[in-house]
Amino acid sequence: MKILVTGATGNLGSAVVEALKSENITLKAGARNPEKLSPGTETVRFDFNDAETFAPALDGVDAVFLQAPPMDPNSPALLKPFIALAAERGIKHIVFNSALGADANEKSPLRIIERTLMDSGVPYTITRPNFFMENFSAGFIAPMIAQASAFFLAADDAKTSFISVEDIAAVVAAAFAEGLTGKAFNLTGPRALNRTEAAALISEAAGKTITYNAIPEDAMLQGARDNGMPEGHVQFLAALYQAVRNGWTEPTTPDVEQVLGRPPVSFEEFALKNSNAWK
Ligand SMILES: NC(=O)c1ccc[n+]([C@@H]2O[C@H](COP(=O)([O-])OP(=O)(O)OC[C@H]3O[C@@H](n4cnc5c(N)ncnc54)[C@H](OP(=O)(O)O)[C@@H]3O)[C@@H](O)[C@H]2O)c1
Repeated sequence: MKILVTGATGNLGSAVVEALKSENITLKAGARNPEKLSPGTETVRFDFNDAETFAPALDGVDAVFLQAPPMDPNSPALLKPFIALAAERGIKHIVFNSALGADANEKSPLRIIERTLMDSGVPYTITRPNFFMENFSAGFIAPMIAQASAFFLAADDAKTSFISVEDIAAVVAAAFAEGLTGKAFNLTGPRALNRTEAAALISEAAGKTITYNAIPEDAMLQGARDNGMPEGHVQFLAALYQAVRNGWTEPTTPDVEQVLGRPPVSFEEFALKNSNAWK
């Protein structure tokens, strides 16, 4: 079995590449700029905005790990022709990474993609993870911490059961290896914590004080616009943090442990392992 990994340069995509390698599963890493990928892996140029990259990416591939460009409200239209081509070419399994709670709103872009995949005829698995722990160490929060030893979010003191991409990637690898098709997994970390508690654990691991500042929604969205984020993405971001403030990202689920036979990584373990990111 050879698996095409889309978004292989990203936080989750790179963890999936590592998880598949550790299971000795052959893969082809797809990226808009394949030169960003580390050597030793077959790579291919892949861009959802360039349909000409789809067929070469699927050549010689049996299965696909599919991710949507983050926070893109246009992602259903981008992924639909790719899923159709995968079906036409007899791809045997697609694991699509959605997001926790996407299935609560039939109009949400990730839910529309889930539906497109479920209707495609391709055997599928859906992973729906909560917010990633790695947003703090390598994602969009990391530059704030590097610049200000602080991070600013419109999350009030809401709790979130953050999950490590390592656990999501391990579930993805198990889905391929064990053929866990026709299933959706809602993936969370082992406990919910608010962002003040997250900042304290990061501070302890980093050996310096890093603080969380709750800011109004308008300020967060204007900051995103000032950083060049397109308005559609800004509205997506608004919906994500409204869900956080509503408490919808607080529950924990047993799915990681049920698939992997071990509990998910704790925030403490994540912070210690990634402490160099904040030094
Ligand atoms: N971060 C979270 O807390 C979270 C929570 C739940 C679900 N998710 C979902 O999980 C997925 C991965 O998130 P992440 O945090 O790992 O994102 P990330 O680190 O920003 O990685 C995104 C990846 O998508 C690629 N990409 C962007 N636009 C593309 C396009 N037009 N065609 C092909 N590839 C494209 C990027 O490639 P380049 O290197 O070329 O930019 C990158 O490899 C996203 O779909 C996100 O919505 C994220």
